[in-house]
Amino acid sequence: MSTTTQYQFVIRGGRPLVGEVEISGAKNAVVAILPAVILADEPCIIENVPNISDVEISLRILTELGAKVERLAADKYRIDATGIRSACVPYESARKMRASYYFMGALLGRFGHSRVSMPGGCPLGDRPIDQHIKAFRKLGAVCKVDRGMVDITSDGLKGNQIFFDVVTVGATMNAILAAVKAEGLTVIENAAKEPHIVDLASFLNSMGADIMGAGTDTIKIRGVKYLRGTSYAVIPDQIEAGTYMVAAAATGGNVLVKNVIPKHLESIISVMEKIGVKIEQFDDSVRVSVDGPLVKTSIKTRPHPGFPTDMQPQVSTLLCLADGTSMIKEGVSEQRFQYVEELRRMGADIQVDGKVAVIEGTGSLTGAPVKACDLRAGAALMIAGLAASGVTTIEDIYHIERGYSEMEQKLRALGAEITKEPVAAVNPVRRQTEQDAV
Ligand code: EPZ
Repeated sequence: MSTTTQYQFVIRGGRPLVGEVEISGAKNAVVAILPAVILADEPCIIENVPNISDVEISLRILTELGAKVERLAADKYRIDATGIRSACVPYESARKMRASYYFMGALLGRFGHSRVSMPGGCPLGDRPIDQHIKAFRKLGAVCKVDRGMVDITSDGLKGNQIFFDVVTVGATMNAILAAVKAEGLTVIENAAKEPHIVDLASFLNSMGADIMGAGTDTIKIRGVKYLRGTSYAVIPDQIEAGTYMVAAAATGGNVLVKNVIPKHLESIISVMEKIGVKIEQFDDSVRVSVDGPLVKTSIKTRPHPGFPTDMQPQVSTLLCLADGTSMIKEGVSEQRFQYVEELRRMGADIQVDGKVAVIEGTGSLTGAPVKACDLRAGAALMIAGLAASGVTTIEDIYHIERGYSEMEQKLRALGAEITKEPVAAVNPVRRQTEQDAV
């Protein structure tokens, strides 16, 4: 049986990150903007597209549906979706990426029907899509789950009032995608306000859509019949930027993080300054350095503009290096502390009780063999490995490559000692440790 080679990152830590890093396009924006091209009646050019596996999967699904995808540059694509005739995204394609649910709203918005696989399981706990379905039904669609596929049909979508019972990024995006060509006015209440929602609305408005209020909790959409082609650049990734900011602080380095929108980083900057990190802000960059001890703090993750849940694992790692007892409360995801077990292998002292983690700052970490269990957990382990003394190996790095483009190259350019290597069939160090533990 042919086995695909698994890779790991090997990091020799303890070196401060110094230099400049360029932030790529936002993953959580582009995974909605690429499906949104389905709604266009002419070809579109999308720029500042990050080189990540979620983009590869999205482009593959578009191609399977019948769109013509042409790569014009490393981060630039021309996509002509006018030839799409299918509204069905099979399980095999959809299961690889949770955000494939955006094809539900985009295909429904264009064709009045869609058939897309339910999103697969996720290490972040229960992540239902009931609010997505609620939005589609409010617009007049009939939704049913049939053998793992979400089958959505309608006799033509009509604008309506949609009130979300929880603040949900995905359902807000999907409601916009489905409503943008619906007949009449749609008002979304209790909408999510993340920068990537504003980016999706800006992209659609650049094609002639009529969306107002994105970025607030009330979004008004007047349906239009025609969406012209456009050329659009995706916003920089606020979470990638935050991740490199934390890595600079955790290694006691000095890094200029370029191609950012400082306004999108306000809550991240506020938390990092509370921890004692020095941050200088410029028009489209921030400089991160540390000129004193890191100090304990308490944080709760919240929907935007609160501190983002997608930065929780990374900041937990930073707090392991701070003096004193810190506390992090996860206010958005159902479960988001699976990475703690792996950090403990590196000497972290963290107790988790439900949605609260109590972190005893030990001031240092030691390298160990660890495994990424999800995207941001993997980023946290990268940060831990960079800050730790000794060697850290991180397996299952496909999680990290879903959302961070060229991470090892960007870190190496900052002075990190990091390589990507095939995983030996059995990693003797890790397996031996596990046997000892039995
Ligand atoms: C998006 O996920 C992001 N993914 C996540 O980023 C991010 O963690 C999350 O928003 C919160 O900011 C993408 O944008 C592709 P939600 P999403 O719908 O849309 C509940 C990363 O690391 N909920 O805002 O799935 C849900 O259970 C990823 O880049 C319902 O109850 O998140 C959760 O507790 C991880 N019913 C809360 O809302 C629904 O129908 C927020 O979920 C939908 C959500």
